[in-house]
Amino acid sequence: MAEEIRILLAHADQIDPAQAEDYIKVGGFKGLEKARGMTSKDLIEEVKKSGLRGRGGAGFNAGMKWSFVPPAEVKYVVCNLDEGEPGTYKDRIICEKNAQALIEGMAICGVAINAKQGYIYCRGEYPFVVDLLRKAIQSAKDVGALGEFDIEVRMGAGAYVCGEETALIESIEGHRGEPRFKPPFPGVAGLWGVPTVVNNVETFACLPYILTNGADWFASIGAPKYPGTKVLTLTGDVNNPTYFEVPTNYILSDVIYKLGGGIKNGRKFKAVQVGGTSGAFIPEQNLNTSIDFDSMSAIGAALGSGAVLVMDETRDIVDIVTRISKFFEHESCGKCNPCREGTFRCREIMEKINSGRATEADIDNLLLLARVMKRAALCGLGQAAPVPITSTIEHFGHEYRRKLLQYA
Ligand code: NAI
Repeated sequence: MAEEIRILLAHADQIDPAQAEDYIKVGGFKGLEKARGMTSKDLIEEVKKSGLRGRGGAGFNAGMKWSFVPPAEVKYVVCNLDEGEPGTYKDRIICEKNAQALIEGMAICGVAINAKQGYIYCRGEYPFVVDLLRKAIQSAKDVGALGEFDIEVRMGAGAYVCGEETALIESIEGHRGEPRFKPPFPGVAGLWGVPTVVNNVETFACLPYILTNGADWFASIGAPKYPGTKVLTLTGDVNNPTYFEVPTNYILSDVIYKLGGGIKNGRKFKAVQVGGTSGAFIPEQNLNTSIDFDSMSAIGAALGSGAVLVMDETRDIVDIVTRISKFFEHESCGKCNPCREGTFRCREIMEKINSGRATEADIDNLLLLARVMKRAALCGLGQAAPVPITSTIEHFGHEYRRKLLQYA
């Protein structure tokens, strides 16, 4: 079994994340210095070579994303810290333990795409993180680490959809947080219509270490096609619910039984949901899967944001999924029909099943609705909302059927 490896969290609780001097003492800002000595092309190639892929959930190659940015006078670097996925708090932990690495990573991206301004969009539920980041940015400026690059922190107002990059951009611009049609992707037309790189906190925080230690070093850690480490947040019915940083070839059952100390109260495992509420429910027979992006996709799940929610044998799957469907109905922004009407109908049918008023035809309707939403919804919210439903019908269909009207 691979062991827990700490790169982003190596100095957690040993340094003050707000103080750039503390970070410099443990090797901070060396990656940025190296980046400044490289051409933009070589820097982007180095990040591509490292194999770094997006840690917000979609797993897009970071260097590739940067390479799409066309030459323009003004460009922006935006950090997505709107981690709204229930059970996910890894970006908060990275900020609280190593805020300067995020700042350095954004500045490295600024060098790569020749941008002078960065924005961090922080979820409204984290006001203390906003304060911390503002202090940390000021401290980095005070020691002269950022040069001409500046970063502003913007705070969201609690909408889950604002974690979607184009809704996030709309929100920074002062508009209602609704997704835009893609293409054009933000790399070409983003914030105020200019080329913008949007990456997740964890993606940016990897960059100083990639630049300092080299792309080959990073590429050699974890799963070859999704290298590096992943910060996971483990919640639910385990003995040790906390956060971990593991190499990406770490096995899911080891997360639950070794790091998590197994199921609480001597109970048996029933299911695990990886990637937050929009993730698939994974049954016991698939626990021997590496947590990397591709291995999780191969079992019909997604690593997503790295939230790992464990459910024991006493949990009522249909009841949990009904609650999740309420969450998505509430959070749908309403811009597109498939999501606005789809999340409403999903919740309605799930409540019908959960309260013992449904028939087999309702399950068929749910599956049809899910297909439409996955294909036709404008953004990830509507596309992912039915995933918990379809995955539980597939793996825990007997729990649904137990609740159907017996005489139908
Ligand atoms: P996506 O696959 O549409 O895009 C991923 C990134 O690659 C984006 O930045 C996009 O602009 C870029 N990209 C994709 N194709 C491109 C192209 N042809 N040209 C240029 N750029 C391109 O995925 P999306 O909608 O950005 O993210 C979905 C993920 O978000 C899900 O996998 C889910 O796990 C995750 N998620 C995370 C949450 C959290 O709290 N961290 C909350 C909800 C969802």
